[in-house]
Order: sequence, then structure tokens, then C-alpha cells
Amino acid sequence: MLIGCPKEIKPQEFRVGLTPAAAGEAIARGHSVIVETNAGIGAGFTDEDYVAIGATVLDTADEVFAKADMIVKVKEPQAVERKMLREGQLLFTYLHLAPDPEQTKDLLDSGCTAIAYETVTDRNGGLPLLAPMSEVAGRLAPQVGSWTLQKANGGRGVLMGGVPGVGPAKVVVIGGGVVGTHAAKIAAGMGADVTVLDRSLPRLRYLDDVFGGTFKNQYSTAAATAELITTADMVIGAVLIPGAAAPKLISREQLSTMKPGAVLVDVAIDQGGCFETSKATTHADPIYEVDGVMHYCVANMPGAVARTSTIALGNATMPFMLALAGKGWKQACADDEHLLNGLNVHAGKLTYAAVGEALGLDYISAQDALKI
Ligand SMILES: NC(=O)c1ccc[n+]([C@@H]2O[C@H](COP(=O)([O-])OP(=O)(O)OC[C@H]3O[C@@H](n4cnc5c(N)ncnc54)[C@H](O)[C@@H]3O)[C@@H](O)[C@H]2O)c1
Repeated sequence: MLIGCPKEIKPQEFRVGLTPAAAGEAIARGHSVIVETNAGIGAGFTDEDYVAIGATVLDTADEVFAKADMIVKVKEPQAVERKMLREGQLLFTYLHLAPDPEQTKDLLDSGCTAIAYETVTDRNGGLPLLAPMSEVAGRLAPQVGSWTLQKANGGRGVLMGGVPGVGPAKVVVIGGGVVGTHAAKIAAGMGADVTVLDRSLPRLRYLDDVFGGTFKNQYSTAAATAELITTADMVIGAVLIPGAAAPKLISREQLSTMKPGAVLVDVAIDQGGCFETSKATTHADPIYEVDGVMHYCVANMPGAVARTSTIALGNATMPFMLALAGKGWKQACADDEHLLNGLNVHAGKLTYAAVGEALGLDYISAQDALKI
């Protein structure tokens, strides 16, 4: 198969869909890889890195889209990219179609087959192509939060680990899923005194079994949150209710109960944020202050560490990419129900129920799409 990887064009996106390592694995299996010039540069991969493993570098995205059987990307195709997709072409990338009727229409009109990273599943009920970015955002949260805690950045001027004779920062993590667990591990590793709140008892049991000596955990109620935030130096918002906007767990009124210069890191901002005063910010201008409390609310946190994020995403997507290239999408999806769950669009038909329901569009089952 001829696999194509264009340079990402969404603003602030520095990741690339195919690492040289993943491209090399495909080439070793007899596939060909074409990459747009400078596609990997934001993640620290040069054209020479791709050429060295046997890929061909092309000057424009038009050429990549025109030639490739499968396009591997990171972000949803932008309007100009969607015009380049064609009937029968396979697209493998994040799509997030439910809130995006324009993209959905363009993909349906193109006749392409689109597999969305975010709806591919695993046998544990997880989302294996979203998890690496949650791991990155979670581990980054205490790092950016501790920077924000510094006096010059508006914070309380508290060091995460304290020093001998001076206690550590108190960190509260709301939500103990992938983001929250990784955030808590790193915050504890920095020496902070960490408490994780979650609503799922099985999850709390897991956290207690595995991390009981590293950080504390507590059942998440409004009362527990209200009490813990009064002494917190940093609160990390990491909740997710699948398919719903994030619940608002700290109100504006409650900010006055927090210490001046305390920091809120709202990782859940991409689902609307879990603090009432959260509004999405960018890496260029990541923090702001409300009622004396600092807020960090960057919606695409993994972009700050594009190289780590690219490699982490590439590690997760590569087995699926190789299966799609090796067997063709129909056989690969027929053999793997979890990959089939990623199918969102095929030959002008929507194949993912939740997207159809969100947008009020007709849809067929992914199983039925295998017969078209
Ligand atoms: N900003 C970014 O760049 C970025 C990157 C990755 C993920 N995210 C977001 O981070 C959030 C968390 O993602 P995840 O992968 O960890 O999800 P997850 O499903 O693994 O974990 C979410 C956890 O929240 C818990 N929860 C739900 N309601 C709660 C409540 N009221 N109180 C306490 N806990 C509650 C759930 O039980 C679950 O354990 C999501 O909104 C995700 O979209 C943001």
C-alpha cells in the first residue's frame, strides 16, 4: 500500500501522523511511504530522517493526497485537506465528528473511508488511541502547574517538594482516570502532598491498591472538594463523563475560599472545563487570574511536548496502521472489532451511531459498511 503523511496545518499543531520509526516498519513490510516536506519538523524529525528509512519526501500536500492509498494524520482534516480526499481513499486520524457537521458533510461527500483514532477501542473498554494523549496531558499538568505556582507567574510561590523543614505543596487531583493518575504520579514524584478524588469506587480501589503509599485518594463529593480546596496550592481538573460536557466542580464563589495565588489546572477544558471560571487558553498565553486564583486551561496540552506526543501517538497507532496497510481496511476491520469501532465514514455513509445521533444524520452500522 502507498501510505501518505501530510504536514499538519491546524494552527499550533506540531505533531506528525507518521514517525520515521513507524514509516520504517511499514516499509520493511513492503509498503511505500510518502511524506510531505517538513511534515515532522515540529516534532524534531527532518526530511532526511524519513529518506534514511526509505520514505519519499514530496513538496506539497496535494501530491501526497493525490497519490496515497491511505492518509495518516494527527488532527481532523481541515477544509482545504478535505477537498483533496477522494473516493476509496482511506483516512486514519483523529476526527471528532460529533460537534463538526461541516467536516462530516465533506467526508461523506468525498467518498473516502475514515477511521477515527478516538473511537477505536480496546478489550478493556478503553480508548487506546486517546490514552497516550491523556498520559501526556496528565504528566504535563503538575509541570505547568508548578511553573504557574512560581511567584513571577502569579502563583503562591510554593515549591512542589518543599525543602527540609518546609512542607511540600498540597495538590488535589479531581478525577482519577488516565489524566488524573498520571498527574498524581508526577506531582507525588515532585514531592507534593497529593490527594486524588474520584466517583468510581472500582477506580478508587485500584488507585489505593497500586498507589496507596504514593498519594491519597478520597471519594469525590461536593463537600470533599469544598474542604480540600481551602488548603490546596494546586487543583488539577481531570474528570470525564463520556459523551457529556465536564461537570463544574468548583464555582466562582468558591475561589474566595482558596489561598491567594493557588493554581487551577483544568485539563478537562477540552470538554468545557470542570471549573466555572475556566476558559480555553493557548500555549502562547496559557494562564490568567480570577479572584486571586491562577488558571491554566490549554485545550491541546500535548502540543507543548510535540516530540513526546508524536512518538507516544505513533506507538499506539502503528499496529493499527500496519494492519490497515497489510490487509486493507475491510479485512483489518473484519478481523478486529476494536478497529471496526473506529470506522466513522465509508463511501458516503456515516457508520458511527453517536455521530449520527449528535448531528441528526442517517447512519448504518460499521458491520454493514463492510459489505459495501
Ligand atoms: N487539555 C488537554 O490537552 C487534554 C488532553 C487529554 C485529555 N484531556 C481531557 O482530560 C479529561 C480526562 O481524561 P481521561 O482520559 O483521564 O478520562 P478517564 O475516563 O480516564 O478519567 C476520568 C475520570 O473522571 C472520573 N469522574 C467523573 N466524574 C467525576 C467527579 N464528579 N468527581 C471526580 N471524578 C469524576 C471518572 O470516574 C474517571 O475515573 C477529559 O476531559 C479529556 O478530554 C485533555
